[in-house]
Amino acid sequence: MRAILSRFLNSAMMARWTQVYADWRFSQKNVEVPACDENGIPFPSAYLMARVAGDISWRQFQRSGHQTIHLFRDLSLAHGGDISRAQRILDFGCGCGRLARHVPQVSRADFYGCDFNRQLVRWCRANLPGTYDVNQLKPPLRYEAQFFDIIYLFSVFTHLREATQSAWLAEFHRVLKPGGFLLITFHDEVHPMLDEIGVSTNALRRTQFHVHNDRAEGSNYLAAFQTREHFSRQASKWFDVCEIKSSRDTGVNQAVAVLRKPELPHELGG
Ligand SMILES: C[S@@+](CC[C@H](N)C(=O)[O-])C[C@H]1O[C@@H](n2cnc3c(N)ncnc32)[C@H](O)[C@@H]1O
Repeated sequence: MRAILSRFLNSAMMARWTQVYADWRFSQKNVEVPACDENGIPFPSAYLMARVAGDISWRQFQRSGHQTIHLFRDLSLAHGGDISRAQRILDFGCGCGRLARHVPQVSRADFYGCDFNRQLVRWCRANLPGTYDVNQLKPPLRYEAQFFDIIYLFSVFTHLREATQSAWLAEFHRVLKPGGFLLITFHDEVHPMLDEIGVSTNALRRTQFHVHNDRAEGSNYLAAFQTREHFSRQASKWFDVCEIKSSRDTGVNQAVAVLRKPELPHELGG
């Protein structure tokens, strides 16, 4: 009996429900969310905001999305990728559109978002411009090869295991056009949360990848950390690594990698 109870308490299902409860608690603090922002774009409920960003107010939700999309625009531009001239953009792990709602300010591209959480995708479909799809935890995506000019993901690799991340890098390579850009955030070795969970920067440098709360992959319950060196090594199997900024320097509390798909087949990719 004790073994069954212990297995249940440690199950992925329990972890997911623990996270749902935590998100509901956070949402109780985010009171009086306005119906729309200054551009007339609807806000998601406090609960949906908490599902993607934990303890966040609607003002922070709006500000952080705006800041991140402009950061992505500037970083890709610095390496020759112009979001304003892209034909198609994908927001992978789009959540309830924290970034997507700001994309029309920087681009007129056909916009796509996808997420493995159906509830979040349903909200985006009903409230934001663009095409939204549900995908599975692991590849493939439903898009044809070489479909996108730009793919970005904010705080998705922060919740995936190493093998899943690796599989997604290969899939992004498939659906990105040659010369296209991929922007990815992750928790690096100087992220403040590492200290909170009792892992030192040096310890992470030794193991290169660390998973905290290794249950319910893809939910905010699981937190993944990796060194910038490790990320660069993994990404360079498929992409040119243009730049990786430390989480201390981006202003969005996560490291940001700017990757470019080579015009010619990559020597190491395959
Ligand atoms: C921390 S939230 C960030 C959401 C959004 N990018 C934002 O910045 O508000 C992580 C998101 O990634 C999604 N996600 C996690 N694993 C995924 C996967 N394998 N495929 C698609 N989405 C995934 C989650 O459902 C969640 O919406």
